[in-house]
Amino acid sequence: MKLLAGQPGWTTKADVIVIGSGVAGLTTALNIRASGLSVLLVTKSRVDEGSTKWAQGGIAAALGPGDTPDQHKKDTLIAGAGLCDEAAVDVLVSEGPEAVRKLIAQGAVFDKSETGEIALTREGGHLRNRILHAGGDATGAEVSRALLAAVQNDSGIEVIEHALALDALLSESGAACGVTLHVIGAGSRDGVGRALARAVVIATGGLGQVYSQTTNPAVSTGDGVALALRAGAAVADVEFIQFHPTVLWRDSSVGGQQPLISEAVRGEGALLLNHRGERFMIGKHPLLELAPRDIVAKEIFNQIKESGNPHVWLDATAIADFPERFPTIFLSCKANGIDPTTQLIPVSPASHYASGGVLVDLNGHSTVPGLYACGETACTGAHGANRLASNSLLEGLVFGARIAANIVETIGDWEVPAEDYSMDFLLSPNIELPLQLAMSQGAGVMRSETSLNETASVLTQLGERTSTEPSLESWEASNLYLLATAIVRSALERKETRGSHWRTDYPESSDSWRIRIIQELDRNGNWRTRSEEVK
Ligand code: FAD
Ligand code: SIN
Repeated sequence: MKLLAGQPGWTTKADVIVIGSGVAGLTTALNIRASGLSVLLVTKSRVDEGSTKWAQGGIAAALGPGDTPDQHKKDTLIAGAGLCDEAAVDVLVSEGPEAVRKLIAQGAVFDKSETGEIALTREGGHLRNRILHAGGDATGAEVSRALLAAVQNDSGIEVIEHALALDALLSESGAACGVTLHVIGAGSRDGVGRALARAVVIATGGLGQVYSQTTNPAVSTGDGVALALRAGAAVADVEFIQFHPTVLWRDSSVGGQQPLISEAVRGEGALLLNHRGERFMIGKHPLLELAPRDIVAKEIFNQIKESGNPHVWLDATAIADFPERFPTIFLSCKANGIDPTTQLIPVSPASHYASGGVLVDLNGHSTVPGLYACGETACTGAHGANRLASNSLLEGLVFGARIAANIVETIGDWEVPAEDYSMDFLLSPNIELPLQLAMSQGAGVMRSETSLNETASVLTQLGERTSTEPSLESWEASNLYLLATAIVRSALERKETRGSHWRTDYPESSDSWRIRIIQELDRNGNWRTRSEEVK
């Protein structure tokens, strides 16, 4: 199966192609370059677009006095609700501190305390202050700035902006040996072309746009996971969509990217209140407002359901230095008519993070030879059923370095793309809105067999709206469709409640579900589901 697109009109080459310019793609590219291999980094919009630059709270790493990777591991495993791959968590927490030190050496500047030490804050699920932050609540922007500056300084990394990766090119032996791309450019590389390589790294970020309301930017349409599926790669844990509990509520009819109110605001003391002005996290979890995100999101959802009010309140009025500590959030509240120093902030959950994705090993290698995945696109198993706050930027740094090391060690010869006779696939852009509504309604914070089947039947109908007119919008809509289908299939399969997957008809977790649900697509678009025991 491949996206319907015009015949490639141009060809380019590099040892390694990296798709995406967030923390994962940039880190991988820089580490590969250290070995002298050439890198082509393609990105579908401007180079700084993606979730990375929006990250607020920070990066988690055991750097504080008395903190250890082992304690970070414990918190990560608890948040992951019994589904983390322990080896992946070990890698994340033990290689994390060094990866952050390297980022600092590359020029990233983090906030300091009055004594000149790196300031560490706390977020949901962390039993210690271990979150580094920059510019108060603009951590992602600083990470992105520092890594981009390093990439732009390296003449061995060629960057093509406005280059949307369509499909992987596979050799006779089934190895990834390049991608097809659509470039909005000028000169010799415009329109559909082929980029050939000896290894391909997908780092296309998340898939928040599958839902009506999300913290993710417009580019987060899960293209890389869909591309991997079409190339025959396995995806796992896709039912575990994390809903961030505190997203600024504006109006239920406002779709797309919504302003986030970082968990770090609760880390600095903000309280959650219901419509009667009562704290509702008391008695629900020992960490109260700083319980893991799935627990807080569920309680907010319950409050909203019980009261009929579309949001709850966040009281941050006790944070005296709010404008200085959270300048980005302060501005977005003000832009929406709220002064958080004197007024309560209306908040509700919205889709935020895909804990699953392309199934990879500890070196970021997918089940297709030569095809790697990094960052939010990948499922390393480190997040299990629910990612611990601020472990995502860290994952991009740690696994980006590991992927680069593995590529340098194992990279094969050039292979020639085989003729691709698989079926073409393209849906109309007009499926996007009804798809997002159906996903939010039936496959959101709470799901049941009935609600999921309703969404599945909407998806079946939308799947009939095929198109013969390739465009950016139709490629993205087609990718969203594949991902929505994968999420609903996995969510129907998992008959229990665990982490960010909440089934109202199966409200308990069950040991028999300590398995990873894995899905694949064959070349004719048929789905295959299997499961694997969690290591
Ligand atoms: P991204 O940064 O999303 O980059 C993906 C890249 O791929 C982009 O350049 C995009 O344009 C490109 N791309 C997509 N599709 C294609 C295609 N078809 N062809 C070519 N290019 C493509 N995590 C934390 O750890 N700490 C935080 O404080 C934090 N706060 C967050 C706040 C917000 C508002 C959001 C949305 C997320 C936050 N997260 C946080 C999560 C974290 O930011 C992301 O998971 C992480 O940045 C993902 O990095 P990435 O490199 O995998 O993807
Ligand atoms: C936040 O700042 O609340 C987001 C942190 C994260 O998603 O890791």
